[in-house]
Amino acid sequence: MNLKGRSLNNLFDLNIEEFNYILELAHQVKNEKKNNIFPKRLQNKNIALIFEKPSTRTRCSFIVAASDEGAHAVALSNTEIHLGEKESIEDTARVLGRIFDGIMFRGFKHKTLEMLIQHANVPVWNALTDLHHPTQALADIMTCQEYLGKLNRKKIVYLGNGDNNVTHSLIIASCMLGMHIVICCPDSFQPDKEIIQQSIQIAKKTNGTISVLSNPLEAVKNADCIYTDVWISMGDENKGNNEEKCKQLLPYQVNKKLMLATKNSECFVLHCLPAYKNMEISCDVFEENNKFIFDLAENRMHSIKAIMLATLIN
Ligand code: CP
Ligand code: NVA
Repeated sequence: MNLKGRSLNNLFDLNIEEFNYILELAHQVKNEKKNNIFPKRLQNKNIALIFEKPSTRTRCSFIVAASDEGAHAVALSNTEIHLGEKESIEDTARVLGRIFDGIMFRGFKHKTLEMLIQHANVPVWNALTDLHHPTQALADIMTCQEYLGKLNRKKIVYLGNGDNNVTHSLIIASCMLGMHIVICCPDSFQPDKEIIQQSIQIAKKTNGTISVLSNPLEAVKNADCIYTDVWISMGDENKGNNEEKCKQLLPYQVNKKLMLATKNSECFVLHCLPAYKNMEISCDVFEENNKFIFDLAENRMHSIKAIMLATLIN
């Protein structure tokens, strides 16, 4: 499979075979690293990491993955470079594309990412925008595969704010693998309708399903995996009435009562992190699942390495 030169705007950019190929590569590079094998496939490559928002996992994953493969990554905050201020996004993209071999972007508007992709002429990877978080979903699925094996017909339930970047990417990724994904959220926090519609088309090919429900105790029945994310995303802190939002989302907290309602003692919990304990997830459930949650955090690095390898070389 040759994905050289491709950008990652969102997971709709990849077909089912391509998505599976990157997942296989992610498992492969994880195994290599565990066995101390460092093939340095990205020697002499330079990677720019642009941040409009903070990041721990994604930033460190890109830096370490690049270093493992012999590449050099440089982190640039939007306050350090001209990005849409003094210089147009288009010109910044053209400059960075001349100097770097690949560009990672974490930011606010999805449109900024799309402009970088349009003008950089090198692969641009989405490391979180207001709409999508595709590198997160790749690690989510990789982690589910480690614990559940083949994922078709497995049930994953996302609880909390459905109108969320992590949720959107998880929906697409689950459909690619033929999973039964349930988004359980209040009516006022449902996922983007267009993303659901497009994901249904993928699910038709893989025999997956998508349901959007509002009753948490019903939704989690027979779940293999429960997933949650913060109720208020970066940049949304001062938008609307967050106190009211949290009140509406409280019944969707992942806690002991909810875990019992799965009626599956093997069911595990994932969280993309960072987590607000005793908001979207109770402290005890978080700690009982810390093995899974931190495996997922580690898998960010392996799967990001796979994305860079797939799109920078063939
Ligand atoms: N999950 C995730 O993207 O974490 P960071 O914000 O720390 O990168
Ligand atoms: N939805 C969260 C994800 C953080 C990784 C946010 O955008 O802040």
